[in-house]
Amino acid sequence: MTLHQNEKKKLVAQSALQYIQDETIIGVGTGSTVNFFIEELKKSNLRLKGAVSSSEESTKRLKEINIDIYEANEVSKLDLYIDGADEINHNFEMIKGGGAALTREKIIAQISDKFICIADESKYVKTLGKFPLPIEVIPMARSQVGREIVKIGGDPVYRQNCITDNGNIILDVHNLMINEPKNLEEQLNNIPGIVTVGLFAKRKADILLLGTSDCVKNIT
Ligand code: A5P
Repeated sequence: MTLHQNEKKKLVAQSALQYIQDETIIGVGTGSTVNFFIEELKKSNLRLKGAVSSSEESTKRLKEINIDIYEANEVSKLDLYIDGADEINHNFEMIKGGGAALTREKIIAQISDKFICIADESKYVKTLGKFPLPIEVIPMARSQVGREIVKIGGDPVYRQNCITDNGNIILDVHNLMINEPKNLEEQLNNIPGIVTVGLFAKRKADILLLGTSDCVKNIT
């Protein structure tokens, strides 16, 4: 049986429910896979205390199913964060930010004990970097950050018509072969004007639920 990509996303979204305990607050990411997860939450019998959401879009969807939203500042830590990825490698390092929510996603990942990545198998890669690396940048630093990125061999492309939930812009960096994700994340974090790098290498996923053609692989 060959499952369509959306069916795989739905299966991993369903599978993530098994990790959730009643009366807890969970972190919820952003993107089409997470949208399936929110639909599955609605169908489930789980009684969540609430959620910390990584985007206005996810907040809207969570409110529609009557889940209370908490600010990250209101919770000291979360047991669980559930989110998708644009790319993930065997070491559970990821590229995220295709949906422009990378900054809030990284903040929630940081305060969560366990990060469960839900993804279809097209996201599982040997080397990160085919998916252009999203970087959130303070608007006035756009050109300067772009020049710094060219120096390290990347081709930054300004994402048109995109203002993040934090009022910043996104540069999508093409043509990076990311062999040392942690080093690159650190290097980019040091460039003034960069708010968040869409490389999740320092805080990576703990569990990967990967949707394949015939099953959900639980990789730890
Ligand atoms: C949102 O900014 C991203 O980090 C998403 O987690 C990522 O783009 C995955 O999205 P899909 O589930 O739509 O592929």
